[in-house]
Amino acid sequence: MELIDSHAHLNDPAYDKDLPEVIRRFKEAGVAAVINVGFDVESSRRALELAHAYPFIHATVAIHPHDAADFDEEAERVLKGLSMDRRVVAIGETGLDYYRNLSPRKQQEEVFRWHLNLARELRLPFIIHDREAHEDTLRVLRTERLSPAGGVMHCFSGSWETAKKCLDLGLYISLAGPLTFKNARRPLELARLLPLDRLLIETDCPYLTPDPYRGRRNEPAYVYYVAKAVATARGLSVEEVAAVTAANARKLFNL
Ligand code: NI
Repeated sequence: MELIDSHAHLNDPAYDKDLPEVIRRFKEAGVAAVINVGFDVESSRRALELAHAYPFIHATVAIHPHDAADFDEEAERVLKGLSMDRRVVAIGETGLDYYRNLSPRKQQEEVFRWHLNLARELRLPFIIHDREAHEDTLRVLRTERLSPAGGVMHCFSGSWETAKKCLDLGLYISLAGPLTFKNARRPLELARLLPLDRLLIETDCPYLTPDPYRGRRNEPAYVYYVAKAVATARGLSVEEVAAVTAANARKLFNL
């Protein structure tokens, strides 16, 4: 079985103490590649460091919408420089977060548009973070010229109606740990209805740990449980879900 974790944060300090063991566990679990996602300048730098150390860990660079208020000329210059590295497979995560509202909405939108433009210039895919901002996220996506490499709605939390609008824009949709929770409704519906050729799976670790490990630190090995939940929802085998989502990730991120 070959799994790909399409969104992880191994660059998070949560792994400073035991990263080699975390890597060993996901290799043993059949995770062939991990997309290690940058969320600020420091973590983008760290994502590149890891990508240069491990051929199966791929880097992305960006400033998270939470930190949009910190996006100044210096951050812009550094991120642009990092984005030229040959180990960068995507720009993200970027987008809008109206749940925590840690940066003013206007700034979130400006920084989101900046990242979409960078992705287009570099012909790289983009990774979208959309939390309780579905309408504005779609408005921005519809009013920008998007990268020909496309993009993904990561840890998608919208309805099937919203998902269809994202599919119309040519985007992939990625499902994460919440699909495995006992109260899962929307993600379960998505797991059943999404076209298989547009579906990705991820952990978003160290957050959103799937059942049966909910409450503990998450890690890429647990993407297996997301694959299993999709398989159950669709009446497929885990191996089939692993294979198709891995192929989708390889295609989107050009691995
Ligand atoms: Ni993330």
